[in-house]
Order: sequence, then structure tokens, then C-alpha cells
Amino acid sequence: MDVNGKTAVVTGGGSGIGRGIVRALAGQGMNIVVADIEQAPMDEVVAELASRGTEAIGVRTDVSKLDQVEALAAAALDRFGAVHVLCNNAGVGVSDPVGATSLEDWRWTIDIDLWGPIHGVHVFLPIMERQGEPAHINSTASMAGLYAGASLGAYNVAKHGVVALMASLERDLRLAGSPLRASVLCPGPINTNIVDSERNRAAESAAQHVGTTAGKKFWDILTRTLADGMNPDEVGPMVLDAVVNDRFWVLTHPDMGGLVRKQVDQMLEDRSLTR
Ligand SMILES: NC(=O)c1ccc[n+]([C@@H]2O[C@H](COP(=O)([O-])OP(=O)(O)OC[C@H]3O[C@@H](n4cnc5c(N)ncnc54)[C@H](O)[C@@H]3O)[C@@H](O)[C@H]2O)c1
Repeated sequence: MDVNGKTAVVTGGGSGIGRGIVRALAGQGMNIVVADIEQAPMDEVVAELASRGTEAIGVRTDVSKLDQVEALAAAALDRFGAVHVLCNNAGVGVSDPVGATSLEDWRWTIDIDLWGPIHGVHVFLPIMERQGEPAHINSTASMAGLYAGASLGAYNVAKHGVVALMASLERDLRLAGSPLRASVLCPGPINTNIVDSERNRAAESAAQHVGTTAGKKFWDILTRTLADGMNPDEVGPMVLDAVVNDRFWVLTHPDMGGLVRKQVDQMLEDRSLTR
């Protein structure tokens, strides 16, 4: 797909991986719609893009709310007339063992991490189909969408859902002979603000976070691991490559695929899961 002069919408584009995706797509001459729940970083990205000559707007959006995703699409069409690339990237994380995860933590995580991409596909797919030209939807899942490790149940469930959503969509599109394509980004550790996800959470919802010792311990390890993680600006070009070259799987750390392979081996050999 030739993206030059076309329009991309990137959710969670104000920070981290989303910001990296925005920069990569803008670097190929795309117009950009940055959608984020956090106004200041979103404004900062839009200003950066404008200073480099990219046509860009910011639309404050909570991806867990269908009406706000519909308003995002309306704003994008109003400004640019079409949308050729959608990156469902906005996401949050919370850590606790499954048995100690509050219902509010389940809802908060799944509303944003899974319903966000579902809303994106639901709203933008018909728009892209009406346009009748090549277009692409990428969603950010995680290695946690391919391997369900301990202390991250709600996030694992949401991200496995995102992988299934995008694989189903890609197969449906191919079966229908559509010019549209789908792909999924499964990052390993990336140095972003996700460890501070609660910054965007409503106080009454955050109050329901249990915060077990096991959950806190895991989050501390994760915080240190991500601080040493990949620069998000290295991830953006991988998503661009998937869009331009029709690649479905985008793994930032393919070496972590060994975890997935081990789990498949355990399944086929009918062995128990290890820790
Ligand atoms: N950082 C990692 O190591 C890593 C690994 C795997 C997957 N991911 C995924 O990457 C994606 C981006 O996260 P990141 O690591 O760049 O973190 P980040 O916190 O730096 O960026 C997330 C962005 O999403 C926005 N956001 C949060 N809730 C939102 C909502 N309801 N509506 C709209 N925007 C919202 C935030 O304001 C922020 O700009 C997420 O889906 C995350 O699950 C991250």
C-alpha cells in the first residue's frame, strides 16, 4: 500500500508506542489524526508534526466509549475526507493474580484494551469499505496476547482477544477478496509510560484496584524491565512496514516466540503448564 498523502488515525498516539507509530507514518507523508484521552501529550505530538510540515489534528477520545470513537471518525473525515490507516493502539495495564483481580480492574482493562479495538474496527471498517481502496487496520496487542503469564490475567485476556480480533478480521477480509488488510502488533518490553497507566483512570474506578503483594512485585519487575526496553521510535517503522508490505504479524521481540512455542509443545504433548 502506498501511504504517501493518505490519512492515518492513531489511538493512544500521544505517548509511547503510539507516538512512535505517528512519527513513522508521518515520515512517509501521511496526514495524521492523533486520538488520545490525555490532552497535553496529544497537543505536543500535533505541534511536533505541524513543525515538520505534517497535516495533523488531535481529537480527545476515550476509546472505551463508542460515541467518542464515532466522533473521532467524524472529525477525521471532516478534516481529511478519508481514512486509510487505523492503529488501535491505546491501552492500559494492571497487575494482580486472577483470583484477586477486582471486577472494576477487569472492566477497566477490557473496556480500553479490547473494547477499544472492537470500537475502532466497528466504526472505521465500514468507512474503509465504502472508500473501496486499499486501507489497513493495525491493533496493538502484546506478547501477552500470545502467552498468558502469571499476575497479568485481565491484561492477558484483553490482549488474547485483540490477537483473535485481528486474525479473524484478516481472514474475513481475504475470504471476501477485499482490498483492506489487517495486522497485529505484539510488542515485547518497550520503554513507555504504560507502567503509569493509572494516570488516565477515573478516581472512583482506581479506588477499586486491589493491589496485592504479588501484583505489586510483578509491576516492580515490569517497571525495571520496561525501563531497559526498546525505544518506541523503533516500533513505529515496524508497523509502517506491516501496512506498506501487507504483513500480519508484527513482533518486536521475535526471540520471545520461544515462550509461545514451548506452550504449544506442552499442549500437544499434554503436559502441565509450567510457572
Ligand atoms: N510498553 C510495552 O512494553 C508494551 C508491551 C506490549 C504491549 N503494549 C501495548 O502498547 C500500547 C501502547 O502503550 P504504551 O506502552 O505506549 O503506553 P503509554 O502509556 O506510553 O501510551 C498509551 C497511550 O494510550 C492512551 N490511553 C490510555 N487510555 C486511553 C483511552 N481510554 N482512550 C484513548 N487513549 C487512551 C494514553 O493516554 C497514552 O497516550 C498499549 O495497547 C499497550 O498495552 C505495550
